[in-house]
Amino acid sequence: MKTLQDLEHEHEIVKHALTISENICERLEGGETLNKDDMSELLEFLTVFVDRCHHSKEEAHLFPAIESEAKPMIAQMLYEHETGREFVRQIKQAFEAYKSGSMDALPTLIGNLRGYIKLLREHIDKEDHVLYRVAEKLLSQEQDEQMFIAFETIERERIGAGKHEAFHQMIHRLEAAYVS
Ligand SMILES: [Fe+2]
Ligand SMILES: [Fe+2]
Repeated sequence: MKTLQDLEHEHEIVKHALTISENICERLEGGETLNKDDMSELLEFLTVFVDRCHHSKEEAHLFPAIESEAKPMIAQMLYEHETGREFVRQIKQAFEAYKSGSMDALPTLIGNLRGYIKLLREHIDKEDHVLYRVAEKLLSQEQDEQMFIAFETIERERIGAGKHEAFHQMIHRLEAAYVS
């Protein structure tokens, strides 16, 4: 199904971002200085690509389409999206404090980024192996077609034309810098 393939493909890019994040944590724990530009870009990816685009596609379209058959699972997925948002809020707050010179901010930033990495890895795993497989059985071809059009609208309105590709390039650049 086109919609599930699209979401699974986005999961792959998100997993690359999580590996980059993990490497950033390790370097900071090893005493390296935080590269503020790279951190800003990573946070933009987590906010715009992961939350505003990917989670919106799931929350506005996929989840409602299968909710009657998968209610408890979807409630759990929504809770995890919300927990992810809270981690990102904490990371942003710690990053702002770090930029203002706070010495305590770095451990808070690392702790929340590590929490986010663990949450998202497990979340993606559940969606790839359980929720999307349930969706595959429940969705009709027609629903898949309609939802795919709605996904394109989300990309256009919430990310902007051409920005999706720019995010891919950003992740490739950060990967080259942080993941050996
Ligand atoms: Fe999700
Ligand atoms: Fe997802």
